[in-house]
Amino acid sequence: MNIHIAGFGAGLPEQKVTNHELPKSIDTTDEWIVSHTGISSRYVASKNESSGSLATKAAQEALKMSGVKPEEVGMVIVATSTPDYNVFPSCACLVQHHIGAVNAGAFDLLAACSGFVYAMQVARSMMLLDPRPVVVVGTDVMTRTVDWTDRNTCVLFGDGAGAVVLKADKRPGGILQSVLRSDGGGERVLYCDGGYRHPKPENMTPGFLHMDGKKVFNFAVKACEEVIRDLAQKQGLSLDQITWVVPHQANFRILDAAARRLGIDMSRFYMNISELANTSSATVPLALAQMSREGRFKSGDYIALVGFGAGLTWGGVLVQM
Ligand code: COA
Repeated sequence: MNIHIAGFGAGLPEQKVTNHELPKSIDTTDEWIVSHTGISSRYVASKNESSGSLATKAAQEALKMSGVKPEEVGMVIVATSTPDYNVFPSCACLVQHHIGAVNAGAFDLLAACSGFVYAMQVARSMMLLDPRPVVVVGTDVMTRTVDWTDRNTCVLFGDGAGAVVLKADKRPGGILQSVLRSDGGGERVLYCDGGYRHPKPENMTPGFLHMDGKKVFNFAVKACEEVIRDLAQKQGLSLDQITWVVPHQANFRILDAAARRLGIDMSRFYMNISELANTSSATVPLALAQMSREGRFKSGDYIALVGFGAGLTWGGVLVQM
């Protein structure tokens, strides 16, 4: 039994904010942001939009494309760091209800920007025991975690959701390999404060994102390179045989550096950071949905999906279309 992607979907907020439209109080320029990150704009959720609502939109689109009926879905897995509720209920339960997946289980998975690739491997493993279709979503509203007075972080992120529907099938290909890694020694390299480590309310903090940009940058270049090499090696492929790399979109320069180290031409890295910025768990499935709409996949193509982020976490899955 092989696990194939049968449908793709995207859920973006209505409002797009270009670098020129950022609040004037932020001491930055379009030139700085583009040259240091590759980002020109991002989507920002309105007060009526959330991880849950964007995920529902993406999951509905993916289900429609797959031809799977909501009642046939066996599991809904939502990778997110910014669920609608703090702790519970899970975002996945909200999505399961709104898409009408009345026979499905549902749970959230937290692996920050690696969440979607983790969720793909978790779904694949579960489907070997219960082959019903699984909806896998990556969704985040990162613009609600940043301090909008901190130019080092607030310009980097955007909001959005992407989804796939996985179906078990005898056809060869589908998800072939995975690499999942973590190093909690990097807990303070990239983190959101708040949480339950300390008693409340004295130490209650607002949940802002904190980042050591240079450390994250160096980690990300190495992680991206390592994941692509490991996926290719596990499958017995040369790097030339990988048709597309669909990486987490954090910074154009991170991916450019990884591509150079691998000797892979940057034209084989699918990039949409310019328009969408870093949407955390959503970057990879949003890119997949866009690539599917643009007709970029051919049957037999090898696609390496790569994530890296807070935890630290990193990983990837190799998919044959
Ligand atoms: N506009 C203008 N100037 C800015 C700025 C902005 N939005 N953000 C930072 N700067 C300034 C800094 O304050 C610093 O000024 P100083 O030299 O006077 O102190 C200067 O730009 C250069 O900072 P530097 O750290 O050298 O920039 P950089 O080239 O390393 O780029 C990042 C900074 C954050 C873009 C880069 O380190 C990065 O992308 N890191 C990874 C972040 C990431 O991907 N996080 C999520 C991972 S999932």
